[in-house]
Amino acid sequence: MKQILVTGGTGYIGSHTAIELISYGYEPILVDNLSNSNRKVIDSIQKITSKKVKFYEGDLKDNNLLKSIFSNHEIHAVMHFAGLKAVGESVEKPLHYFDANIVSTIELLKEMNKAEVKKIVFSSSATVYGNPISLPIDESHPVRSVNPYGSTKLIIENILNDLTISDKQFSAVCLRYFNPIGAHESGEIGDNPNNVPNNLLPYISSVATGKSDFLRVFGNDYETIDGTGVRDYIHVIDLAKGHIAAVKFLDDNYGWEAFNLGTGQGFSVLEILKSYEESNHLSVPYKIYPRRKGDVSISYADSSKANKILNWNTERDLKDMCISSHKFAIKNQQKI
Ligand code: NAD
Ligand code: WQD
Repeated sequence: MKQILVTGGTGYIGSHTAIELISYGYEPILVDNLSNSNRKVIDSIQKITSKKVKFYEGDLKDNNLLKSIFSNHEIHAVMHFAGLKAVGESVEKPLHYFDANIVSTIELLKEMNKAEVKKIVFSSSATVYGNPISLPIDESHPVRSVNPYGSTKLIIENILNDLTISDKQFSAVCLRYFNPIGAHESGEIGDNPNNVPNNLLPYISSVATGKSDFLRVFGNDYETIDGTGVRDYIHVIDLAKGHIAAVKFLDDNYGWEAFNLGTGQGFSVLEILKSYEESNHLSVPYKIYPRRKGDVSISYADSSKANKILNWNTERDLKDMCISSHKFAIKNQQKI
């Protein structure tokens, strides 16, 4: 059974991917410092999969921890999710973000090199495209850093590219996610930020479950169908399956590749809100607020490269995303 090291394995996307890895016959080895997740996620993964999961609590900057992981296991490839992801916080604390995201990745890569682990799938982001100049966005769209978080993604993509040039045996896939939402259908795991949610879906869920009074809709004067911002929302399980496709791709290919993972369809904030209300038979009060600084108007993917080369497609629709998000929000609320 191939062992895959999943950094950030108790986080939102890492945990869903760990479940997919198990269902595809891999053994995920999880490492996480729990800075933005909870160890209870391990119990949930085990409950869902009926499999015991190996978990190391610790930071990627801890070389001794990484050394022991690489010596205890025969790691076939690394899926690198661990990192900080709050755009606004990165603007306030750029050095903290460079340190947390870039330094920890360099430490991981050094230990991978010593252990001769030569394959990595990296969690990149559509944020690398900055303010889109053409739509849909394909991988040839120019990349540009618009905030420190985005800079860390671009720098890491470049580091990985340089490594594949210096070592022909080393291969890297950068997956540029659009907007992951939704949760496992069991409601056991989902997007569970430690702080007040910044992203749209956790915030809608927080209003729907009574934790917040209303949703602030940031701007209704964009040039979109109803004036609110448009994004390409992708179900986290479809995203997780993209990682399985990427790790299989690395079995037969060397070098560096970037792939967009999105559905190719854009929805506005009000369309998401309406779908959430209709899918879950409830109402979510909202108020229009000014535009949020740094937001782009419209972003959606051309994912045909991943469709063709990775043989990957999305299977879940917006209703699935809204129902599963709400189920997780309710279950998670009961656990607190
Ligand atoms: P998350 O915060 O839920 O998961 C990240 C996990 O990494 C957390 O559990 C955290 O505790 C852990 N972690 C952070 N720094 C660490 C370190 N130095 N050592 C060990 N563990 C550490 O985030 P997520 O939504 O699952 O995102 C996963 C990855 O995908 C991130 O790299 C993020 O930037 C990227 N991404 C996320 C989105 C999104 O909207 N969720 C979109 C594009 C890209
Ligand atoms: C979506 C839409 C908001 C909250 C961010 C990062 C990006 C990636 C995904 C990591 C926008 C509107 C939101 C709210 C609102 N993360 N909104 N009220 O900004 O597209 O992307 O997360 O890589 O890098 O920038 O996602 O969910 O924050 O916002 O009206 O309370 O919802 O203005 O139009 P975004 P989001």
